Amino acid sequence: MTSLASATASASSPAGQGAIMKDRRENKVTVANGEISKEHNGIGTTVCESVPAEVTKIVGRGSRKKSYRSRSTSASSQDSVSSGSYSGSSSEDEETTPRERIQKNAKGFSEFCVKRIEQASYGRREIEIAEQEMPGIMALRKKASDDKPLNGAKIVGCTHVNAQTAVMVETLVALGAQVRWAACNIYSTQNEVAAALAENMISVFAWRGETEEDFWWCIERCISAENWQPNMVLDDGGDATHLLVKKFNSIFKVGTFKGIVEESITGVHRLYQMSQAGKLCAPAMNVNDSVIKTKYDNLYSCRESIIDSLKRTTDIMFGGKQVVVCGYGQVGKGCCQSLKSMGCVMYITEMDPICALQACMDGFLVVKLSQVIKKVDIVVTATGNKSVVTREHMDKMKNGCIVCNMGHSNTEIDVMSLKTQDLTWEKVRTQVDHIIWPSGKRMVLLAEGRRVNLSCSSVPSFVVSITTCTQALALIELFNAPSGRYKSDVYLMPKLMDEFVASLHLVAFDSQLTELTTEQAKYMGLSKTGPFKPNYYRY
Ligand SMILES: NC(=O)c1ccc[n+]([C@@H]2O[C@H](COP(=O)([O-])OP(=O)(O)OC[C@H]3O[C@@H](n4cnc5c(N)ncnc54)[C@H](O)[C@@H]3O)[C@@H](O)[C@H]2O)c1
Repeated sequence: MTSLASATASASSPAGQGAIMKDRRENKVTVANGEISKEHNGIGTTVCESVPAEVTKIVGRGSRKKSYRSRSTSASSQDSVSSGSYSGSSSEDEETTPRERIQKNAKGFSEFCVKRIEQASYGRREIEIAEQEMPGIMALRKKASDDKPLNGAKIVGCTHVNAQTAVMVETLVALGAQVRWAACNIYSTQNEVAAALAENMISVFAWRGETEEDFWWCIERCISAENWQPNMVLDDGGDATHLLVKKFNSIFKVGTFKGIVEESITGVHRLYQMSQAGKLCAPAMNVNDSVIKTKYDNLYSCRESIIDSLKRTTDIMFGGKQVVVCGYGQVGKGCCQSLKSMGCVMYITEMDPICALQACMDGFLVVKLSQVIKKVDIVVTATGNKSVVTREHMDKMKNGCIVCNMGHSNTEIDVMSLKTQDLTWEKVRTQVDHIIWPSGKRMVLLAEGRRVNLSCSSVPSFVVSITTCTQALALIELFNAPSGRYKSDVYLMPKLMDEFVASLHLVAFDSQLTELTTEQAKYMGLSKTGPFKPNYYRY
């Protein structure tokens, strides 16, 4: 097993694969329509929204009722990303903003702003449940709490504030960091979890249902405080970085600022833009594209959440249903694996001959969408492309066909084309709309074409464990790197760290890794302690 010290040390060695690779793949973070999706996932993480399932008859789009607050700016604060997982258990009962109340925890500490500090014990239970399913980050906490590799780190955090991220926040504190934390999403905070963090003397400024003004106020409270000069940012969506750059730029000039760690595709895109414009004032680590995070987020997590999303929203029985999945990349492969295992009859659409051939090898029929659109019961898009399912396709679907999107952008299904006077929209449940044609035919549209699993199911704690481990290691690396190792640019996590994150999680399965003999290592041209694959290896 690779130790933390050796992982970080060899990872930062300038020679060989251990050296940090600068990612210049600008296109990596753009979706096919040439821009980062402005997908407004504000309701995205509300798995079990407390809003009752209203039945609202809507003709066209003009009279559509919204049962959630809308915000105009900062798409990222509404985007739902991998670590967002809302349990729906937060209390909604108080209308007064927490900003109007001074609250103290049991020890008299008041440097926080949460909905109700009294909920702390419920939040603690949620955190303890999450810890059980987050073996990697818990192992990291245990391994490194003596070394305290983050001693002296002053981190501004802006992520979802939920049970899983709380496990990471408390890990960072256990590793020596001082932190001030805000929510990256106005809807996803678990109020009781925020209360538990505050009860544990952590300065957290977050509650569910923040206004736009509250949102920025909370981030500002994390950046600017008495006797507090942050030297790191852990961001999910780029909003803390944005405020730091726009309003508190002097922090970068002191010379003690160590770096930014960014998780989301949106935030990473902003960092690359800043870097290209020469406006990035500190090194930044792109955690979003870390190999291990991508694999788990795209393949394994989607394999589970597609079933969960469809079940929760439609109560459908899968056996014998005809399903077409558009795109046989990582997400598509995950969806197909689980749907096939449930007895669905599967069709795939693909544009890439390599992926199409993979689908054939896996036993799926590769077709054009127009060939099967009349007979399928479920359509799932997973291409990252736009206008994959068009109005023409939807006009041809059979009655009751379920349509959902697993891709990043809400433009894979041409939902806009359904907003015409001839069609009637009927909201039958939270995140479920029936679109009714004049003939009486109904199409079941999930999450209005946004990423269905983020809108209608939860993200497994195990996946968040991988992401948060990667984030924590990125912070440790940036904080401890000798001056000059990182310039003001965007970097990818080195492979050795990905391998280390994986090895921390392997423990949970009591897995036994094969160790290379010296002879074998020499034969393969590898170090016995990794990295075991070249950077271009795709797994
Ligand atoms: N829902 C989630 O939790 C989740 C998680 C990770 C990624 N994503 C998103 O899902 C999307 C797919 O991710 P991925 O990792 O599978 O990407 P990928 O590039 O591995 O796969 C996409 C596949 O779609 C194919 N494709 C593109 N346009 C097509 C078209 N018009 N018709 C048929 N096939 C087409 C491509 O050839 C490719 O094989 C991305 O937008 C990604 O951001 C979603």
